Amino acid sequence: MSVGYRLFDSAQMYHNEKELAQAIKASTIKRKEVFITTKLSSGTNYENTKRSIQSSLSALDLDYIDLLLIHSPYPQAKEMYRAMEEFYHQGAIKALGISNFDTQQYLEFIKTCKIIPAVNQLQVHVFFQRESLQQIMQKHGTIMQAWSPFAAGKNNFFTNETLLKIGKKYHKTPAQVGLRYLIERNVNVIPKSSKKERMSENLNLFDFTLSREDLSAIKKLDRNQSLFGWDM
Ligand SMILES: NC(=O)c1ccc[n+]([C@@H]2O[C@H](COP(=O)([O-])OP(=O)(O)OC[C@H]3O[C@@H](n4cnc5c(N)ncnc54)[C@H](OP(=O)(O)O)[C@@H]3O)[C@@H](O)[C@H]2O)c1
Repeated sequence: MSVGYRLFDSAQMYHNEKELAQAIKASTIKRKEVFITTKLSSGTNYENTKRSIQSSLSALDLDYIDLLLIHSPYPQAKEMYRAMEEFYHQGAIKALGISNFDTQQYLEFIKTCKIIPAVNQLQVHVFFQRESLQQIMQKHGTIMQAWSPFAAGKNNFFTNETLLKIGKKYHKTPAQVGLRYLIERNVNVIPKSSKKERMSENLNLFDFTLSREDLSAIKKLDRNQSLFGWDM
């Protein structure tokens, strides 16, 4: 928080909601200035989902969650979402979303939503750009949020020739170029680092703009496939 980050991405599955609550309490930053995301971890029915949301609110020690996601396209996702919509109407969740829903799953899911998901959090990075899914979601009003925006370092992300070469022009690192590319495409990013200096580096993105040539060179890095496997 002291570095300047205001969005914190937690999940029931990560067992980090309580730690996040402690961090918010320990900081001098006001509640309304932070944006807290969490995710429901397992597919379950309507009543259990209500209990599950309540347990996240308690673990986070919050009156409201800024963004609540269904972590994966569980078979019970539609029923879970109905419970989420109820909490949304009560003001205990400010925005609803999903995660790891591919095109078909997304289109099927929104058929029954009263509230269109604000966000679909997905594996997105320069090697897996998912532009067509982004366009489809944009039409319906859902923002693409990129998890593992550095591909978690896979495929030698941090020493990629194209990103290094472009970065040199702007005195930026491959990490900064990769994030900047996504931001310029209106993709929301949630990079992770355990190191303070890298956290600062990953925030320092707003003093340069990629040229048309840069954008088309980075576009060519797209392999159009997951580097993780489990999320597909
Ligand atoms: N919805 C989902 O299913 C899902 C799945 C996966 C992740 N996520 C979310 O997405 C977030 C980010 O994903 P991620 O952690 O998998 O991958 P990531 O943000 O793409 O990469 C994190 C890795 O990059 C390194 N790194 C960060 N900044 C760097 C820099 N400037 N230079 C060199 N190395 C750097 C980090 O190492 P150091 O820590 O040593 O800096 C860490 O090993 C997670 O924290 C989680 O909240 C969501």
